[in-house]
Amino acid sequence: MPLPDAALSRLAIDGGRPVRSAPMPDWTAATGRRFGAEEKRALARVIDSGRLWRVGGTEVSALEEEFAHLIGSRFAVASTSGTSALHLATAAVDPDPGDEMVLPAITDWGTAAAIVATNAVPVFADVDPLTACMTLESVVRVITPRTRAVIVVHMFGGAADVDAIVAYCRPRGITVIEDCAQAYLTVPPGGEGLAGTRGDIGCFSLQQAKHISAGDGGLTVTDDPAIAERMRLFADKGWPRETGVRSSALFGMNYRMNELTGAVARCQLQKLPQVIEDRRSIGRRLLAGLDDLEGLRLASNATPGSHTFWFFPLFLDTQRLGIDYRTFTDAMTAEGVPAGGYLGVPLYAMPPLMEERVYGSTGFPLRRPDGSARYHWGDCPVAERLVGSDLVVVPANENLTEQDVDDTIAAVRKVHNAYA
Ligand SMILES: Cc1ncc(COP(=O)(O)O)c(C=O)c1O
Repeated sequence: MPLPDAALSRLAIDGGRPVRSAPMPDWTAATGRRFGAEEKRALARVIDSGRLWRVGGTEVSALEEEFAHLIGSRFAVASTSGTSALHLATAAVDPDPGDEMVLPAITDWGTAAAIVATNAVPVFADVDPLTACMTLESVVRVITPRTRAVIVVHMFGGAADVDAIVAYCRPRGITVIEDCAQAYLTVPPGGEGLAGTRGDIGCFSLQQAKHISAGDGGLTVTDDPAIAERMRLFADKGWPRETGVRSSALFGMNYRMNELTGAVARCQLQKLPQVIEDRRSIGRRLLAGLDDLEGLRLASNATPGSHTFWFFPLFLDTQRLGIDYRTFTDAMTAEGVPAGGYLGVPLYAMPPLMEERVYGSTGFPLRRPDGSARYHWGDCPVAERLVGSDLVVVPANENLTEQDVDDTIAAVRKVHNAYA
């Protein structure tokens, strides 16, 4: 695709004319979200009812039923965030202190927090260089006799190889949790069912940036009635309210979603299929506009009908281009198309883990008996390279017009052209 004119080819960051001056639709504001009259009416309905918590209410329980139906699971349990949705899942695994749970080195902190919060030890698997998802090989490398669960994260809306990981884990009694915070209605290739239904438990987030949002909120799905019951109790202080006895049946938190959040989430759920369809058209247009650039690769799992394009990852060949994501995304942002990296460091390099600072100075549950460090730079070299230099993340949302997408393509091509 040629650049429109020669004047455009000088980068805006070097004083050239930017690709666009109008702001892009933005997921942090109304321009990039689909909140409207339905959500306002739903909020008014709840406020008029006078009952804002879920106990005895109708909204959150209806949301759970509707979500389970849409995803294709038997049960859904609502909670306050994607992190708490994951905590419901890890708590249902019920590990002993020091048991291990595997997760990818690139994911949101919430995935690791849900493990540490059960006093289990996060063990990191490296990721594929063209999807940023963990692979069966990287998981198998770090499994030990103490592994109780593997959390498979479907990054950016693209599917990880969850079926292969399930096939490995199931005969070994290892629970597979799918973190679908970025992957509503993603379809992992092969097998049957959506992301979130392939493993034992699926976890979703309703945070501001996600495909659908209620500000914050979480949903956890499973087909297993015993797991569903444990999660339901865990989210409500262990309190079996239907018995009429106020005694905690198990250790639990208060992660109850309230009715206001539930009512907004139900409206968003209605909009989800269209949101996904629109994001898929945007994704297809971006892929078609960018698939011929030397030194810049697209996600290898961005296949039509599978990926749901939460955000749009690009993988730079930094050797070839001579720049890393910082230079690339600064230049893109100057062109009027904001972009960034992801995390900057793998999760294990973040202070609570690398410095073993979870519960005061005890080092628990991370410190090894012989005092040797648990996490080291170099543990997951691909992940370190991606978040440290190669991975560019272009935020996407369902409100991007064809012109917005074409401007995004033009900005990427212009910056690439300047460095290639
Ligand atoms: C992959 C992943 N896991 C977990 C989370 C945690 O979700 P929340 O921010 O709703 O707690 C997020 C969201 O930021 C995420 O993207």
